[in-house]
Amino acid sequence: MEKRDFQKEFEKVFGQLTGRYSSWEVWNDFLYVTAASFANVVKTEQWEKREEEYLSRINKYPKEIQEKFPELMSILALALEDKPEQDFLGSMYHRLNLHQKQKGQFFTPYHISELMAEISIGSKESMDEEIRRKGFISVNDSCCGAGAMLVAFANVARKHGLNYQNRVLFIAQDIDRTAALMCYIQLSLLGCSAVVIVGDSLLKPGFHPDNEVWYTPFYYLNYWRFQGAESEEAVIVPSDVPAALADLLCEDQDGQIVLKMEGVA
Ligand SMILES: C[S@@+](CC[C@H](N)C(=O)[O-])C[C@H]1O[C@@H](n2cnc3c(N)ncnc32)[C@H](O)[C@@H]1O
Repeated sequence: MEKRDFQKEFEKVFGQLTGRYSSWEVWNDFLYVTAASFANVVKTEQWEKREEEYLSRINKYPKEIQEKFPELMSILALALEDKPEQDFLGSMYHRLNLHQKQKGQFFTPYHISELMAEISIGSKESMDEEIRRKGFISVNDSCCGAGAMLVAFANVARKHGLNYQNRVLFIAQDIDRTAALMCYIQLSLLGCSAVVIVGDSLLKPGFHPDNEVWYTPFYYLNYWRFQGAESEEAVIVPSDVPAALADLLCEDQDGQIVLKMEGVA
């Protein structure tokens, strides 16, 4: 059977959306409606706000064009199912010439991300030991882009016999909402338990009140697994942060709440 070229299929459907609107606007609408449809499987405090933004974005388009958004999503899902070892959205972002050079948005080629994940994952023994002790391992990319490093980490973990869907907690942050949503969508589709934060990781790291936080559907399924981890560091958990994340926060020298740096970041 002939191999499908998912990038070409995606580009074709995407092109059918861009007559009246710029590629940039369509890309961001696609990301938002897809991300909101994943996040709103759970009725959270953000549910109404996300539903409103979802409707305001999708209702700009005529009915027959609206149907192209789930079509794009299904091509993306099939592409990642066919080959999880790739940064599909990051590649499309470059291919469609949407990346913002001024923000340093040159995403790491997948094979380099894979090499870095192999180096940072450590030995099977140390991974097993951490899982025995805490029940899970965590990985953080504080400038996540479309999530290439974290996608690679998930695939490398699986290769080492680790069920990344319930044994790895993925933490991601990016100053740019477009990038963060790409990461959120890809991690959601790969079934990662992930927290993706939109915000400046230097000035407003982690759960700063100005930051937007997106939890993947698998995070909601597995959050209880990430509880009860041992921590020797002082931890302050803002009230809207699930307690499961407490172990991943600590105070830095300036008294700011930051995410502990672990893994490939
Ligand atoms: C070179 S890309 C790397 C992305 C990803 N880690 C990868 O390897 O493909 C750098 C990313 O950092 C983000 N970024 C730049 N400054 C940042 C900051 N202060 N806080 C959070 N993200 C930032 C950019 O938006 C961009 O997506």
